[in-house]
Amino acid sequence: MNMAPQELEKSASQYATGAIKYDAQGARGMAITNYQKATETLLKLMRLYPDSQLNKIYTERMKSYQDRIKSLQSTSLTDVEPVVDSAASPEEQRATLANNTKNSFEDMLMKEKPDVRWDDVVGVDDAKNALRESIVYPSKRSDLFPLGWPRGILLYGPPGCGKTILAAATANELDGYFINVDGSSMMSKWLGEAEKNVSKLFKMARNYAEREGKPVILFIDELDSLLGERTNEIGGEVRSRNQFLTEIDGINGKGKDMQLYVIGATNKPWSLDHPFLRRFQKRIYVSLPTLEAREKLFQLYTNKLQLDGRVRSHTLASIFDGYSASDIKDICQAVQLKVVNEMFSTTTYKEPVEGENPSKPRDITMKDFRETIVRRKPSVSMDMIRAYYKWSEQFKAL
Ligand SMILES: Nc1ncnc2c1ncn2[C@@H]1O[C@H](COP(=O)(O)OP(=O)(O)OP(=O)(O)O)[C@@H](O)[C@H]1O
Ligand SMILES: [Mg+2]
Repeated sequence: MNMAPQELEKSASQYATGAIKYDAQGARGMAITNYQKATETLLKLMRLYPDSQLNKIYTERMKSYQDRIKSLQSTSLTDVEPVVDSAASPEEQRATLANNTKNSFEDMLMKEKPDVRWDDVVGVDDAKNALRESIVYPSKRSDLFPLGWPRGILLYGPPGCGKTILAAATANELDGYFINVDGSSMMSKWLGEAEKNVSKLFKMARNYAEREGKPVILFIDELDSLLGERTNEIGGEVRSRNQFLTEIDGINGKGKDMQLYVIGATNKPWSLDHPFLRRFQKRIYVSLPTLEAREKLFQLYTNKLQLDGRVRSHTLASIFDGYSASDIKDICQAVQLKVVNEMFSTTTYKEPVEGENPSKPRDITMKDFRETIVRRKPSVSMDMIRAYYKWSEQFKAL
């Protein structure tokens, strides 16, 4: 007899919940068996309903169960608790911290800070000002903020407008630490362990902030995935979300003087619920570039290209209305590719030989830019922009 899809899903979910429970208790064998049963049930479900829209989600889940099974089978879990000897020198302490936190965190943390400065981030002045006010100034003169200052900052807006590089530039500006994790890999890689790892992550951040006396920016990309789209316990979303909220409260409460900041980024602010929003006291819209910003972006990204004298960045800026910063970067890359391609395919192409001038691509013209418009649409739609505005009206907090 065939089970209805709801029943199958429920059954898969029960197996997964069981697996997670055993996993948390360290009962590896039982955990593996249950992850396997959850996988089989989802497979069955997908075979019965091959056209279901949910299959993508099921596939992802199965993958995370499989990954978890693999890691349970291969090694015992390494404890990532940072243990630091307080008699050791700061360098040694840092090395210990780094080593201890390596294993399960390593692939999620950014080892090297991206090398961006404020000036490399074009436009987005509101966002820059807000970050200055709530991070840079308090970290320089905490004595001027007797009532405390906001620790949670949410950057939201369309893709490719600078949320990630803004957070990195802030960390650089402060000469602080930049811990970069992304919500979705936290949920999938830490399956069943997410809650515990959320608290370890904050502990590590606090350790850095306390021991090194430097500001620490904990940047959580794709913040919305911490919430999960459904409320069941398959990925432990509910518990890790609550843990996350508790940790933020900890910084706002007893960690009052600690230089620890949480910057969250999301493209989908509307999927964050009220408790989340309340803890991100500053909510900043990182918008599409304005006309003026687009002009600067074109200047920045054509800086190293050979342009025809008639190319005007101002004109480009008005032609490419609605394009994001990363779209503009891609366009500049595309026109350069085009002239280089042309150069290679001409019959007169000459390899570089000593004493002779090698072939050079022709100058890039306005026509090259105009042609890319036809082939390349803005990556953000007007509907999306409207949705951001609507959300901002209600929830923006500068
Ligand atoms: N304001 C900007 N100034 C200069 N370059 C930018 C700007 N915004 C984006 N870029 C370019 O686009 C790339 C992608 O930007 P970034 O990753 O910061 O976007 P994002 O807003 O975080 O997007 P997503 O929501 O997709 O994560 C950057 O590495 C940079 O090269
Ligand atoms: Mg980003």
